[in-house]
Amino acid sequence: MEVSYLILNGELPDAEQKAAFDREVTNHTMVKEPMLRFLDGFGTDAHPMAMLTGLVGAMSAFYHDSTDITNPEHRRISAIRLIAKMPTLVAMVYKHSVGQPVMYPRNDLSYTGNFLRMMFGTPAEDYQINDVVERALDRIFILHADHEQNASTSTVRLCGSSGTNPYAAIAAGIACLWGPAHGGANEACLHMLENIQANGGLAKVGEFMEQVKDKSSGVRLMGFGHRVYKNYDPRAKLMQETCREVLSALGLENDPLFKLAMELERIALEDDYFVERKLYPNVDFYSGIVQRAIGIPTPLFTGIFALARTVGWISQWDEMLGDPEFKIGRPRQLYTGYAERDVKK
Ligand code: SDX
Repeated sequence: MEVSYLILNGELPDAEQKAAFDREVTNHTMVKEPMLRFLDGFGTDAHPMAMLTGLVGAMSAFYHDSTDITNPEHRRISAIRLIAKMPTLVAMVYKHSVGQPVMYPRNDLSYTGNFLRMMFGTPAEDYQINDVVERALDRIFILHADHEQNASTSTVRLCGSSGTNPYAAIAAGIACLWGPAHGGANEACLHMLENIQANGGLAKVGEFMEQVKDKSSGVRLMGFGHRVYKNYDPRAKLMQETCREVLSALGLENDPLFKLAMELERIALEDDYFVERKLYPNVDFYSGIVQRAIGIPTPLFTGIFALARTVGWISQWDEMLGDPEFKIGRPRQLYTGYAERDVKK
């Protein structure tokens, strides 16, 4: 929550500011009850990101009272609502897909503890929060909170620059993040590891890496490479460390996928193809393994990323709208086509 406050306000909170921020966010974690009926309209087999895009966009239809984007207070309350409700919405999507009752938020739990209980708790019994898991998830939220002008953040800025409401702009960011080249890479990376494991595991890693290096195969090493990081993504280091912590805390030290990921990384860091192209693990390479160990289903990984990135998206949206120089976005295009053509008779 300190990181969220920092990204939103530009300064870390003192104790009083932190307490007030926690209280305000906690008091906005519930969603309007009709949103549950909106959720029921989705099939239980719908992809979580499809449901999340729909639900966040639908917030435009449920929260009319804070959409004057020229009003800083409206922008602030929209930011608080989005940060507070994303965990509730992500957990709702998960419960819908597994056919379990939605768990309502509790005001006596931490932001991350509340999310864990809404995800994995049931009305049938009390849910015990595992401190190692809570800390690991908190770290995942921090590492994914903001990352300058990545594709989804730029989408939120361009969408928001038209003056549309914040929920529509954030829904656009969620839609963009879903792609496997961006936030969807953690889901794609886990599928990649599971496929290698199913086809022979460590013994097949060499063969797989040859496929990756053969461009005609169309196979990419998911979780590797970056648009701007041409070095080891610092977030990946911390994510690998988190992997170790969570796997040992849960007695999963011998998780074959973690061993596979470490071997892929070892080979890639020594192989000229990757070294020449400055391809290193990025934030998505290990995050899927941690989330899988926690019990988060693979299709929901990008939903966790969206939950974390919401504070970055909405802070950049607010920064843009708070700039007196701001104008509607308009990317440049160089037209190289015909000057004139006649309709064919
Ligand atoms: C995120 O922008 C952000 O900040 C995003 C993000 C954030 O916090 O918001 O950091 C989160 O999206 C991380 C990236 C997650 N995506 C993946 O892990 C998917 C796999 N990665 C690739 O698709 C790729 O690396 C991209 C999309 C991330 C970057 O694509 P680029 O900019 O085209 O990569 P590049 O120009 O650096 O590629 C250089 C060369 C190319 O080969 P050549 O044409 O030079 O021969 O490396 C090749 C690429 O084909 N290459 C890969 C590769 N990534 C690039 N080859 C094999 N496997 C890969 N993963």
